[in-house]
Amino acid sequence: MDFFRGRRLRMSPQVRRLVAETELRPQDLIQPWFVFETDDADYKKAIGSMPGQYQLSIPQLLRQAEGAVKNGLAACILFGIPKEKDPKGSQAYAENGIVQDAVRALKREFPELCVITDVCLCEYTSHGHCGLVDGERIENDPTLALLAQTALSHARAGADMVAPSDMMDGRVAAIRTALDAEGFTDLPLMSYAVKYASAFYGPFREAAEGTPKFGDRKTHQMDPANRREALREAEADLAEGADILMVKPAGPYLDVIRDLREAFDAPLAAYQVSGEYALIKAAAERGWVDGRAVALESLTGIKRAGASLILTYFAEELLPAIG
Ligand code: PBG
Repeated sequence: MDFFRGRRLRMSPQVRRLVAETELRPQDLIQPWFVFETDDADYKKAIGSMPGQYQLSIPQLLRQAEGAVKNGLAACILFGIPKEKDPKGSQAYAENGIVQDAVRALKREFPELCVITDVCLCEYTSHGHCGLVDGERIENDPTLALLAQTALSHARAGADMVAPSDMMDGRVAAIRTALDAEGFTDLPLMSYAVKYASAFYGPFREAAEGTPKFGDRKTHQMDPANRREALREAEADLAEGADILMVKPAGPYLDVIRDLREAFDAPLAAYQVSGEYALIKAAAERGWVDGRAVALESLTGIKRAGASLILTYFAEELLPAIG
């Protein structure tokens, strides 16, 4: 036998821990929550394709947050489902819209919880697209002002960070300019910089009720075939003032996460999306895999690839295991 024996450092859990190169920390995980506009304070509706996830009224959101914060949750990201939708997505930027109200309530009860908001129009438009439409065309530049207004309304409500997910060109600059003009110069912006037109968003569209009524998102979200283009998207967002970059989905795009990690020094987030979650949950329900172990391994892989933050529906569930 020669000198190297890899097994020496694997023989006990203590030594394995000493030499572990990657560690998931509670503060790495960001839990997405769906807040539903309703007069029914008890509203808590299970999302069929995402076992363990719910649409929540604001009072139910606060209950959910209470347990999560106790378990060490550091940050959440909010998605809103409004009562009324219209072609301009007015409820996205309404001062008393569902997300704005939820932010105020969460920050009042849990000031230490970092509340991030998703900035997009698709849950608020009657056609389900991320921007204004002209016929079947999604209009880029006219949408920018509405996204900026949305981010501003979240900032006024007390959000700790805004996260534009719409993939319109120039939206980071538009949002940054609007925030700065109103004095929110210190409010960080996490950009969904590299967001692919992915089939893995399927369950989310049930959860957030934002399925496009016609067409798809391929004219603004990236082609899954493209890797080099991700660097150009990230570079543009950094130049426009993004503080944190995100890659989405996560698991099928580990090469892209690694590329961004090596190319840029900004903090890097990855979004393990609804479909990634649903696949693991479905297989676990059938007893085909150990759901918890697969979830932990998938998140470790995402972190090892280079993401320092992970948006994941497993956050609440796994916190007790990694805390
Ligand atoms: C758009 C948005 C989407 C997701 C996050 N923000 C859906 C889409 O682009 O179609 C997907 C998240 C997930 O699948 O978990 N507001």
